[in-house]
Amino acid sequence: MSKVLVTGGLGYIGSHTVVELLARGHDVVIADNLANTRAEVLDGIEAISGKRPEWANVDLADHAACAAFLAQHEDLDGIIHFAAYKAVGESVEKPLDYYHNNLGSLVNLLQFCKQKPSCAFIFSSSCTVYGQADELPIKEDASVKPAESPYGNTKQVGEEILRDAANAHGFQVIALRYFNPVGAHPSAKIGELPLGAPQNLVPFITQSAAGLRGPLKVFGNDYPTRDGTCIRDYIHVVDVAKAHILAMERLVAGKCEQALEVFNLGTGTGSTVVEVLEAFKKSTGAELQWDFADRRPGDVVAAFADTQKARDVLGWSAELPLEQSMADAWRWQQTLPKN
Ligand code: WQD
Repeated sequence: MSKVLVTGGLGYIGSHTVVELLARGHDVVIADNLANTRAEVLDGIEAISGKRPEWANVDLADHAACAAFLAQHEDLDGIIHFAAYKAVGESVEKPLDYYHNNLGSLVNLLQFCKQKPSCAFIFSSSCTVYGQADELPIKEDASVKPAESPYGNTKQVGEEILRDAANAHGFQVIALRYFNPVGAHPSAKIGELPLGAPQNLVPFITQSAAGLRGPLKVFGNDYPTRDGTCIRDYIHVVDVAKAHILAMERLVAGKCEQALEVFNLGTGTGSTVVEVLEAFKKSTGAELQWDFADRRPGDVVAAFADTQKARDVLGWSAELPLEQSMADAWRWQQTLPKN
């Protein structure tokens, strides 16, 4: 059993990862300042796991506050770092907030690993680092393209910080590059909780189907794809969470072969926007309307993962199909307030 700090552990992927860590018998401490979630998520975690992990409301980008918090947990075996701002569009309007929060918190946490090199560290990265890849499916050694947004740049620079710090101070880290996490825990006790207008496709689908919004707008149907809409690799959030457990256990067992190891987390299958909409209708029976609108600036045409490395090295692959992601997202949406 390990003691693991999960930063952003009340957030979407963080809360699902906390549930999986608890199920595997690990001890969890959560650090989350509720920047993009609600404290009630802890009730959902307890309802699923029967355990209520310790939670500290701490701003990890505040050096003194982060150091004081970590000084209370010198027995940590691992840190999984989710806490970051993640809205692509917002990052273009507020780049300094994104660099301060996302990179400041990362540097503050890595100071702990510098003092305790045995502490495993997992970084929440993103397929955004690839931009529009030259080859599909995308392998981990694909070239990292210039970021299309400050958000994407915080992931690219974050990986560079990890590599330099791990090499200089003798510890090891794993960066997990998520493709498009979707869905919710099958219990419907936790799920995606976008505060305000959703940024991503699936919460927009479920809110539109729930009547909280008008018809969904599909951003562009003139792309060079099988139906003219963009292709992404939509992966169930529970599959994403399970990969973190295997990565943590790999680090704790000292099996990493490089200072920084990088893995794609995707299904290996690309789906167009319209295919996602049809999968939602088929798996839920819910009504859903959509219109075609102009392309969204910054969107890449297609992105889906080559999953060989995670399968061979982590012994992990996604198991849950798109239809289940849609059904679980819908079941979760129906537990949320209608206003
Ligand atoms: C998916 C597709 C849209 C909304 C982003 C981040 C990435 C990761 C996941 C954090 C695109 C289309 C969307 C809508 C639409 N975030 N769409 N109508 O942009 O692939 O990835 O979120 O880790 O880092 O970049 O996800 O869900 O916003 O869009 O047509 O109302 O759905 O154009 O083709 P994206 P998304």
